Amino acid sequence: MNEKKSVDARGMKAVILVGGPGMRLRPLTDNKPKSIVPVLNRPILEHTLAYLKHFGIVDVILAMSYLPDVIREYFGDGERCGMRLTYCLEKEPLGTAGAIKNSETYLDSSFLVLNGDNVFTDMNLHDLLAFHLAKKAKATIALTWVDNPSAFGVVETDAEQRVKRFIEKPPLSEAKTNWINAGCYILEPEVLGEIPQGQHYMLEKGLFPRLLDIGKKVYGYTYKGYWLDMGTPQKYFNFNMDLLLLKTKSPLIAAEETNGVYYSKDIDIHPTAKILAPVLIDDGCKIGKDVHIKGPAVIGKGCVINNNVSLEQVIIWDKVNIGQHSRLNRCIVSDDTTIAENQDIRNSVITPSRTVPLSL
Ligand code: GDD
Ligand code: MG
Repeated sequence: MNEKKSVDARGMKAVILVGGPGMRLRPLTDNKPKSIVPVLNRPILEHTLAYLKHFGIVDVILAMSYLPDVIREYFGDGERCGMRLTYCLEKEPLGTAGAIKNSETYLDSSFLVLNGDNVFTDMNLHDLLAFHLAKKAKATIALTWVDNPSAFGVVETDAEQRVKRFIEKPPLSEAKTNWINAGCYILEPEVLGEIPQGQHYMLEKGLFPRLLDIGKKVYGYTYKGYWLDMGTPQKYFNFNMDLLLLKTKSPLIAAEETNGVYYSKDIDIHPTAKILAPVLIDDGCKIGKDVHIKGPAVIGKGCVINNNVSLEQVIIWDKVNIGQHSRLNRCIVSDDTTIAENQDIRNSVITPSRTVPLSL
């Protein structure tokens, strides 16, 4: 990541919104919150935290409502990741703005907000802050360009990048631009005064249109680098492939992990197995005789890949067992799944209880 040091985001606090149920990622989120879904064998939220740390942002508030205990158990106080984490829990989901209001006591200067459990980018946060300060904005929304804006918040700006209109998920015919809300904002604490206390309230349909109505300065920062919303299994699959193919880089992943065939600890690989890079294999896996793995592929902890199995472009989570002579191509397999012998499965998401097409 290319960093300019003129304005420094170090020390800024960040709120990560991690309260959504992840409906569109099902069945991957049947038993896991979105934030814990593994990307190259690490929870997506851990990538987001590493991204913030890369810019010197270590004070992070996790605004949560859905399955909070799983997230808290994994991350604790954040020390292991070099972060200071504060958990703000909503009894009922308060919406994207209500969740920020719920963390108001921790927010006393310009702060960052991220849709941290499904958006990944390599945007430079020093540059974003520099833009926000130069414009003297009350809110700055990072914008990214997409082919089909109708699934996002569409943001119209003027020649000075001041936001004229924010319209959430409009029909394609009403979207006047392809610049959309990238789910990354810098806000001034005073805008919290416009969010009702203890009520469900959204940034996208509530706060942003409201700030525009009352004439507050809202700006759009255009970003042209890597950006992905891993909102669906297909996009999740593409994201893992992009990291393995070095189309983008996560500060969490050491260079050697995406540079060839990378094995973690205690791997038992039969000498006749053929593994073609890029492949990442986590601790405690057993790879049998004449197994063929063609990357890009990721295999999680404690998996057993039995004799003569053939895998191509797969993302396999933890403790998966694949029966001999089975063939998987473009598949995601979730934790604890057992696949019988002699199966031929393509373009699918496979969990212990169901198999659905990957294109969903
Ligand atoms: N704490 C909390 N409470 N978090 C929430 C709640 C809530 O009630 N509702 C949603 N979130 C979190 C989600 O976990 C996610 O990180 C973020 O807020 C946005 O919610 P999504 O459900 O993922 O929204 P979306 O993907 O349909 O659209 C949003 O993201 C797009 C970019 O990916 C919007 O912000 C769009 O305008 C934007 O373009
Ligand atoms: Mg989303």
